[in-house]
Amino acid sequence: MRYVELKQKGYFPVKVLIIIKYRVFLCWSDGLISDKTAEKFAKYMKKYPNLYKFLACSVQKHTTNAHLVIIDLGAGPGLLSLELHKKIPNAKIIGVDPLQKMLQLANENACFDTFEALLGSSENIPVEDDSADIIVSRFSLPYWKHPNSSFTEIYRVLKPGGKIILEALNRDFPVWRLFLIKLHMLLNSAGGDVTRYHLDAYKTAYTIGQVEQFLTDANFHIIEKEGSEKDWKFLVVAEK
Ligand SMILES: C[S@@+](CC[C@H](N)C(=O)[O-])C[C@H]1O[C@@H](n2cnc3c(N)ncnc32)[C@H](O)[C@@H]1O
Repeated sequence: MRYVELKQKGYFPVKVLIIIKYRVFLCWSDGLISDKTAEKFAKYMKKYPNLYKFLACSVQKHTTNAHLVIIDLGAGPGLLSLELHKKIPNAKIIGVDPLQKMLQLANENACFDTFEALLGSSENIPVEDDSADIIVSRFSLPYWKHPNSSFTEIYRVLKPGGKIILEALNRDFPVWRLFLIKLHMLLNSAGGDVTRYHLDAYKTAYTIGQVEQFLTDANFHIIEKEGSEKDWKFLVVAEK
């Protein structure tokens, strides 16, 4: 329906917002987005470097020496990898993602010698057993098709004493508050595709309690938790 027709039917502004809301909410994706959406996601997220700086600081807090191997799992366009490099310049950083386009963007954004982009997923991390000091993952968990086997895979790849640092969208966060964030995204030119991508994540997001269960089932020891039920995200750190 065109704008004029909608206006004649008296749909503006409230009813149109409701239509947009439900159209955005009812669409579903398997988490693997188009090249165009990946580009738009990267462009939008570049407006919020502090989100990546915050997580890079948490990772730095958990580093014991400078020459680490860090895996950025579900690295997307490499914005976290870049911030990690700024904080821990001697670390080797491996960005893993199932989308070729995301890896291309990661290579452009995380443009430093010690960065490597690898095609893979949480279910199949293309590195040897006991080879990583830290695996960090930001807002990728809802897209993992098999979380239980993913945490077992993370355990395989970490060195003994290695850590998983997971930042994730909180499933306990009230959906109406999430809509306010998404409205903010639309108003800040995120575009419908990127906003929908974020909303899809909410449907398959987990609570902090569920994540703790995944981790203990995979034999990890939880050493740190941040975030309450009311927060939109939480952080969990666990050790092998
Ligand atoms: C919302 S984006 C977050 C990207 C990046 N971590 C960031 O914060 O900018 C989610 C990322 O997870 C990736 N992804 C989807 N399924 C995955 C899986 N099974 N294992 C690892 N990454 C996955 C997507 O391709 C995408 O790059």
